[in-house]
Amino acid sequence: MKVLFIGDVYMEQGRKAFDKYFDSVKAEYKPQFIIVNGENIADGNGLSESIYKDYLKRGVNVFTLGNHTFSRKDYPTVLAFPYVARPANYGPGTVGNEYVTYKYNDKTIVVVNLLGRIFMRDPIESPFLKMDALLKEIKADYIIVDIHAEATSEKLTLAHYLDGRVDAVIGTHTHVPTADDMILPKGTLYLSDIGMTGVKYGIIGGEVDQGIRKFITGVPERVRPEISGPLQFNAVFLDLERRMIKRINIREGESWT
Ligand SMILES: [Fe+2]
Ligand SMILES: [Fe+2]
Repeated sequence: MKVLFIGDVYMEQGRKAFDKYFDSVKAEYKPQFIIVNGENIADGNGLSESIYKDYLKRGVNVFTLGNHTFSRKDYPTVLAFPYVARPANYGPGTVGNEYVTYKYNDKTIVVVNLLGRIFMRDPIESPFLKMDALLKEIKADYIIVDIHAEATSEKLTLAHYLDGRVDAVIGTHTHVPTADDMILPKGTLYLSDIGMTGVKYGIIGGEVDQGIRKFITGVPERVRPEISGPLQFNAVFLDLERRMIKRINIREGESWT
């Protein structure tokens, strides 16, 4: 099973970068299954119904989310869609799918989205213990986990905890790609963070001047997305049979892209 997983598509510029690079990356890697982290894909963060439908038509199979899952008013509608995995470790009674089960020919792929707890705001359940519980009920040929978290230590620890029990543990959320793609001892594929898809020179997608001002003054401001400049497209390619993982990092204006 060949999987393409695209990191946090950040608002309008993220969709622009997706439009610009998705087809050529797809043509080069020929994935059979495509995951997009869509926690910031719509304006105002979160995922919208129109984007969900449009991206599915274009070949995306499953959306994962993160700490911005509930940012838009229409989240109950979006979380009811079958191919949206919201973080599974919100508490009992939360709307939405704890995981998505996808049939590909005679194979079953399960995608799980988990939220980290270190430097994150919501008082959620342990991703470690939640995953133990889910693994008792999940029946699948392949299991892919999106660990949406700030701390690389938490992500890497979870990956070792799940090593040999799932096919891949892939990080999202920081919007900064890491270079630690590896195969863990018991065969699980791992990357701490895919990175974001959107502007290259923003502060994780936000305006640079605003980001500097916030650090100088300490005064909080709602993030204003950067709306111009070169783009980046970050993804990871997984071959679950051959146990292969490859980062795809396109940054405009650099000689090796
Ligand atoms: Fe994000
Ligand atoms: Fe996030």
